[in-house]
Amino acid sequence: MYEKDFIVELAKKTGEIIRNNFRKHLNVEYKGPRDLVTNVDKYIDNFVRDSILKAYPSYGIITEENKDLNELSNKKFIIDPLDGTTNFVKGYPQVAVSIAFMEDSEITFGVVYNPILEELFIGELGHGALLNYKPIKVSKTSEFKDALIATGFVYKERNEKTYKSFENILEGALSLRCDGSAALDLAHVAMGIFDGYYQKGIHIWDIAAGSLIVKEAGGRVSTFDGNTSFLEADEILATNGILHERLIQFINGA
Ligand code: IPD
Ligand code: CA
Ligand code: CA
Repeated sequence: MYEKDFIVELAKKTGEIIRNNFRKHLNVEYKGPRDLVTNVDKYIDNFVRDSILKAYPSYGIITEENKDLNELSNKKFIIDPLDGTTNFVKGYPQVAVSIAFMEDSEITFGVVYNPILEELFIGELGHGALLNYKPIKVSKTSEFKDALIATGFVYKERNEKTYKSFENILEGALSLRCDGSAALDLAHVAMGIFDGYYQKGIHIWDIAAGSLIVKEAGGRVSTFDGNTSFLEADEILATNGILHERLIQFINGA
């Protein structure tokens, strides 16, 4: 699949733009309550779009900041040009570009790149997951009391069930983190830093690449009730596999 090299190169070029603007002056707007966008998010979104259109004019493109293109194509790029915008605005180095490639409704290749830490995560369907070109695996943690779980705080609809899930996990697990980048949270499950990650209110561009990386690192990904059709489900739960059912129980209140 020759698109692979193109995707890795595009992630690196995009990452360079993020790095060059990190902790620099930004124009920040609110898309909605707590939902920020900067001039750099918009610039990169256009940059990845233009780059793809030049190389693959007929392929579909889904990005966060623009309208979908070529929706009927069976080959699609699914991109979050800058995941972790709040971190980016505040200068917290958990920011990434996330690029996934979908063929016939299946994600076949995914790249998540943190340009600040220069960590490049790659997942290829059937071929495993890599960090900076070395294989990675999910953790082997088997007791929930030893698990470091990550979550993402939803911009809206923070209901009782969400707060209850935090309480349950804080009581039952080692600890809970909210690091502000869904793509990196998934990559960190894939490399065994986090034993699990879950979040409500998530979009396909946040999770398309990272979810493949987790699966290819030996983990499991689903909705909160274990359904494996999670890409458009508005929620995601990813674990090392061993703790999957336990995390489902904990977030659903057991
Ligand atoms: C956000 C981040 C965050 C998650 C939010 C996402 P953005 O993406 O991934 O971790 O909690 O739900 O929207 O807005 O920084 O691209
Ligand atoms: Ca995002
Ligand atoms: Ca984004």
